[in-house]
Amino acid sequence: PAPGWAIAADVIVVGSGVAGLTTALRCAAAGAKVVVVTKAQMDNGSTRWAQGGIAAALGDGDTPEQHLDDTLVAGAGLCDEPAVRALVTEGPDAVRRLISTGAQFDTSDETGEILLTREGGHHRRRIAHAGGDATGAEISRALVEAVRDAGIETVENALVLDLLTDEAGRTAGVTLHVMGEGQRDGVGAVHAKAVVLATGGMGQVFSATTNPAVSTGDGVALALRAGAEVSDLEFVQFHPTVLWLGPDAEGQQPLVSEAVRGEGAYLVDAEGIRFMTGQHELAELAPRDIVAKGITRRMQETGAEHMFLDARHFGAKMWAERFPTILAACRSHGIDPVTEPIPVAPAAHYASGGVRTDLLGRTTVPGLYACGEVACTGVHGANRLASNSLLEGLVFSERIAADIIADPTAPGAPVVPAPARTPLPASEARYEIQRIMTAGAGVLRSAASLAGAATALERLHTASVEDLERDGKTAEPCVETWEAANLSLVARVLVAAARRREETRGCHWREDRPDRDDDRWRRHLVVRLTPNGT
Ligand code: SIN
Repeated sequence: PAPGWAIAADVIVVGSGVAGLTTALRCAAAGAKVVVVTKAQMDNGSTRWAQGGIAAALGDGDTPEQHLDDTLVAGAGLCDEPAVRALVTEGPDAVRRLISTGAQFDTSDETGEILLTREGGHHRRRIAHAGGDATGAEISRALVEAVRDAGIETVENALVLDLLTDEAGRTAGVTLHVMGEGQRDGVGAVHAKAVVLATGGMGQVFSATTNPAVSTGDGVALALRAGAEVSDLEFVQFHPTVLWLGPDAEGQQPLVSEAVRGEGAYLVDAEGIRFMTGQHELAELAPRDIVAKGITRRMQETGAEHMFLDARHFGAKMWAERFPTILAACRSHGIDPVTEPIPVAPAAHYASGGVRTDLLGRTTVPGLYACGEVACTGVHGANRLASNSLLEGLVFSERIAADIIADPTAPGAPVVPAPARTPLPASEARYEIQRIMTAGAGVLRSAASLAGAATALERLHTASVEDLERDGKTAEPCVETWEAANLSLVARVLVAAARRREETRGCHWREDRPDRDDDRWRRHLVVRLTPNGT
């Protein structure tokens, strides 16, 4: 439908996690009129679920160079070194600025220094945390409060549909569908010279994920429809230790942070045997892909549906003080980690790829930026290093804000959008897509499993296209049907990339191509949709 109302701003930030809100604050501080639009409520995204913390070379003896080395190793040959260098060198000051914005990190009672823990792939203690294991919740609280204090306009319950551009193809705003905002109800538009996608990830493309229900790949789907380049979508990171709630568990699952292993928990099978020792010098603290593979292999060898994380030796006091969120989550599911090992299995966690950007967060469409999990800045390569994601959101949001502020270009009038031609599947398609992706494109993939997923996804998609073409029929436009359309698009692109990459690298694990092939595959798969959607 054509927009029924319009407002104007300098900058539209889409999403309200660490990346979006930091961009909004920095742009507003420089005098720009910013509107933040978010699909649900301000604190509903992935940021508030982050547990372990935020990685930065803040500790004695640690250096950005060491952080860089660990990031490059985890990224399995596909990181963009200048991007990683920006991340690790600007990271410590970005964390200090986050603290000045109001986020309170855990500090030592004796020295007042920030307490640091370890996570997979880090050779040092360099993860700052808050509330023990509630780092994201504290960051979200502080940033939402700061945005409100700064008087930045926010629009909640607003699903951004498509990018608006001027005659020359430059970003001129977005169309959005707002639910229940009084005057702004229904489809409208925000006009602006810059749009920053900070919409988070796409974990909901799989049945079991640590991501909240809102993580449906909206930003990547919008960027694809807008003709922007997307890269590395095949690299979906599976978190090794997600609380196992049964074979049919669906939707957001409770995370058991890597920091639990960082503080000395270990992985065992049903016989109590540690299986990560001997597989990697860092054992349970190997990079995340290696631990997820180690668990999956052991599950296959023993026929078990899950492994166990044993941290009984922490004792009741440490569990309550250091990991209160995880303790409460386990207990609410009838598991007491103080007295029993925690059943865990890998689940979808993080999209290492996304909308391709340069070092200033610019996508290939002028005026369109991407920041945080939705972006592919090059810092994660084939496998993100633990706790680098909040840091990426902080560092690149500041770079984006600086670029927007410095850019005097004003777009021409937005071209009136053609009536939407995106076929909307029924909202139930979401569950079908999740089942297809979990069966065919999960932690362990093969040519056959991916071909099966591609065929099933295409069949689902073709049915909605045919409905649309035959009699103009499509599902009622609402958040659920748009989410299903977005999931369908990102799933198809992800599977196409995973089929194409005929090797095993980072978190892309092909049982039919078990080796890393640097000669053929030390390169990125970049996708751009043509105007007719192919
Ligand atoms: C965790 O706490 O294990 C998650 C950290 C991350 O995904 O970076």
